[in-house]
Amino acid sequence: MTVSITYDYNNAMAEVVGSRHGLTERMLRELEPRAGEVDRALAARRKRDVGFYDLADVRRRARELDSIAGLGEKIARRFANFVVLGIGGSALGPACVQRALGHLHHNLLEPAEREKRPRIFVLDNIDPEFLAEILDVADPTETCFNVISKSGSTPETISQFMACYEKVEARVGERRARNHFVITTSRDRGPLRLVARQMGMRRLWIPENVGGRYSELTAVGLLPAAVAGLDIHGMVAGAQAVARSCRSAERFKNPAYLNGAIHYLADQYRGKTISVMMPYSEALRDVADWYRQLWAESLGKRRGTPPYEVCVGQTPVRALGTTDQHSQIQLYVDGPNDKIITFLEVERFRRRFAVSKRLNKLMPEFKWLTGRDITDLFRAEMEGTEFALARAERPSVKITLGRLDAEHIGGLLFFFMVQTAFTGGLYGIDAFDQPGVEMDRNAAAALMGRGSKNDREMMREIAAYRRKRRYHKPLAINR
Ligand code: PA5
Repeated sequence: MTVSITYDYNNAMAEVVGSRHGLTERMLRELEPRAGEVDRALAARRKRDVGFYDLADVRRRARELDSIAGLGEKIARRFANFVVLGIGGSALGPACVQRALGHLHHNLLEPAEREKRPRIFVLDNIDPEFLAEILDVADPTETCFNVISKSGSTPETISQFMACYEKVEARVGERRARNHFVITTSRDRGPLRLVARQMGMRRLWIPENVGGRYSELTAVGLLPAAVAGLDIHGMVAGAQAVARSCRSAERFKNPAYLNGAIHYLADQYRGKTISVMMPYSEALRDVADWYRQLWAESLGKRRGTPPYEVCVGQTPVRALGTTDQHSQIQLYVDGPNDKIITFLEVERFRRRFAVSKRLNKLMPEFKWLTGRDITDLFRAEMEGTEFALARAERPSVKITLGRLDAEHIGGLLFFFMVQTAFTGGLYGIDAFDQPGVEMDRNAAAALMGRGSKNDREMMREIAAYRRKRRYHKPLAINR
């Protein structure tokens, strides 16, 4: 197995985009002592509460991986549909890996064309129409539901579980309904693990020291991938290969630290408060979505206490090449110079697609296009965009994957996890908690009438907030 992922940061540097917007070697060198401190602090936390690094170990995890792969095969043979119920870190990883490694139209293929594997759905929302309409296309008697929740207490996921259980039970009876559910949760806490045990459902564990958005290489991501027939051993092996090169505390030897440092410096000293991820690959589209959560939820934090509190974090944005050249690039080139763009590129695509010469005579002005593989245009469009941005002094970096396979995807995701953990350290915040999310969860539960002492306090605050909203009457926009 060879993993080839390269990281190119030329276009973030002053030599290419000028010294007003680009970084210098000196800035990177001056950050080195801080990088060393962050590395040591992370190493200490690895032993305590930051466990995702330990997931990149094929040999130690061999039995677990075999068992998940075996369960995936069993589910694939028995069910026509596999539905993930989860949200945030419990959904974005499975969705992104399925898109990156599966057929891009997996669910539309005939069963034989997808090797009789189930159709895969990831339900990461509780919009009633979205839920009801999935059940219109996925017959509950033919469906396995994978309920994924680290905390085991996320209201969205619990309510999906309750609703789907009832539908299955109504069709197959209480005795058989439990066979339609696999619960992926914490072994040590949360109500879901107990309910699943009582009901005799199959359970898979998420290590206590691995947080939701860092959990793709646990059963969270590996079971859905195994059901789809993807190579989960390869995903972990790829992460292991990247872990080897992202081990060094020395900035120049550790590409994940270097990319973290570049984003941190670009934000803090060059005003690049937005991090755009722009894959030139449909398969990698949802990697940008997964990264959006990882970057936002890990780094968007308050540091210090009032009156010295500072709010930090770059806003991550997802774009897609070439689609968004016709939607976003105008803004990126001529709008505020507040972004650093990460291009994701694939060296060897799995398919080729030639532009036929058939219409040459009718469109002679496009002769330069015909007879070529469309990949050539795809690449030229990307380089053109990189060039246009650099010319306008807009910094970017580029990550190139040798090919799209399990090793490269496992490696890429692991790379971003290491980068994010490190960048959190540079900002001086905890990249592994999410206090802002707890607030909206608690407010929703209070509004739903959970009725705890804290909820009553929360309802008083919400009532005061609602009173402030009475001054300006909403306007009809259809007059
Ligand atoms: O990264 C995180 O911890 C969050 O995004 C969670 O994944 C998300 O809130 C869902 O939580 P849970 O898996 O506990 O249901």
